[in-house]
Amino acid sequence: MFPPDFAWGAATAAYQIEGGWQTDGKGPSIWDTFCHKEGRGCGAQTGDVTCNSYELWDKDLQCIRQLGLTHYRLSLSWPRLLPDGTTRHVNQKGVEYYNKVIDDLRSCDVSPMVTLYHFDLPQALQDGGGWKAPAIAAAFDDYARFCFRTFGDRVKLWLTVNEPYVCAKLGHEDGVHAPGLKEAGTAAYLAGHNMLRAHARAWHSYNSLYRSTQGGAVSLAINSDWLEPWRPEHAADVSASARSLAFTLGWFGWPLFVTGDYPHAMRAAVDTQSVKLGHRGGPRLPVFSEDEPSPLGTADFFALNYYTSRKVKDGSGGEWGMSMRCDRDTEEILDPDWSICGAAWLAVVPGGLRKLLHYIKDTFGDPVVYITENGFCQAGPLVKEDAQRGRFYEETIQEVEKAIGEDGVNVRGYFAWSLLDNFEWADGFDLRFGLFHVDFSDAERKRTIYRSGLEYARIISKYKAAHSK
Ligand code: GAL
Repeated sequence: MFPPDFAWGAATAAYQIEGGWQTDGKGPSIWDTFCHKEGRGCGAQTGDVTCNSYELWDKDLQCIRQLGLTHYRLSLSWPRLLPDGTTRHVNQKGVEYYNKVIDDLRSCDVSPMVTLYHFDLPQALQDGGGWKAPAIAAAFDDYARFCFRTFGDRVKLWLTVNEPYVCAKLGHEDGVHAPGLKEAGTAAYLAGHNMLRAHARAWHSYNSLYRSTQGGAVSLAINSDWLEPWRPEHAADVSASARSLAFTLGWFGWPLFVTGDYPHAMRAAVDTQSVKLGHRGGPRLPVFSEDEPSPLGTADFFALNYYTSRKVKDGSGGEWGMSMRCDRDTEEILDPDWSICGAAWLAVVPGGLRKLLHYIKDTFGDPVVYITENGFCQAGPLVKEDAQRGRFYEETIQEVEKAIGEDGVNVRGYFAWSLLDNFEWADGFDLRFGLFHVDFSDAERKRTIYRSGLEYARIISKYKAAHSK
């Protein structure tokens, strides 16, 4: 069922694997600052060195080749390329590093998919207000144009922002990701809004300046769980589950694919709660200005990061106040039948991916879809013979195959998260998502394939062989 040019990939992100946090002129990012502060969740762990891919890229390339990937998704570190975030000063060493990565991939017949922003904002831009400041959209557009101009002759798949939901909510409302703000009920909506504005500007730049010569495609990676009613026979749970999807997938999906604005259910919920709280000072969920390019139509494909599923109950479980959770007024819970892998949040539900894909087809106008992240982690004692994760990949890919073959979803690629064990944000090195184990106690950061890595390689080669017959 997989088309012959299906993208078989794995993904990583700069801050999680590169290290070299101040090597060769790189500027600091908000994650450097956040990790160097005391009192964060994962103790003294940082991404200062992590897999050291900045120096050990050759080793990563060997891993990519061993898996037989056709595509590799990486992110560019904005402050490695532009240390103060602006094009006033370009760090040539950073350009050389990514040129080598991109050229090496292509010489091995692996196509790069490049994310411009995977959580690591230049600290200098944070100092000017970061994603909460409207001016960030112009700064991002400059950076995006610089990247299209510099790498776009060889990169044909671009993602502007990775997971604006996570970046906005965990970074600006929950405070567990950089920049560590806890401004519940306001800052996340504002940050998410400016990410959409930034994305739309960058897409328009690509469209008018580079598309005709470079011929690539640009999107934004949206993460969402599959959400369904806890009690399907209860109307309140049915509408709670729709509302919950509106606040995750819909928050970014509707502006890009449906109306150019946030879902009605989301705006209505935020506004209703604002009235109840006696909030003044304009809508907390911002309004898109007519003087700017609309986000509608600014995604050339749907980029989906899917990890898990939840059942949804009406009501925020007794919480009351100014927060996104209270606005949404739902509770997302685990089905006791689902198994959990290393992280408490990660219930293993491959079937949820098929349902979500079907929903995307129906809701967003049958777009081309790339699954830009999906994975399974381990915690605690290292298990290199991870048969369970191998089965997870096999079952998940079967679900994708059914989505294509039986539901007619136009899925063009699948990227496993992640190529390597790496710095898992607030969880540091405690969660291992890699197809390759990385020994962080070894100066050489030795990479060793897991059994699940071998399994993924076997799956890829089986589908490739089916087409070469
Ligand atoms: C995503 C994120 C990745 C990775 C993954 C596993 O939210 O984009 O960087 O950390 O989750 O938790």
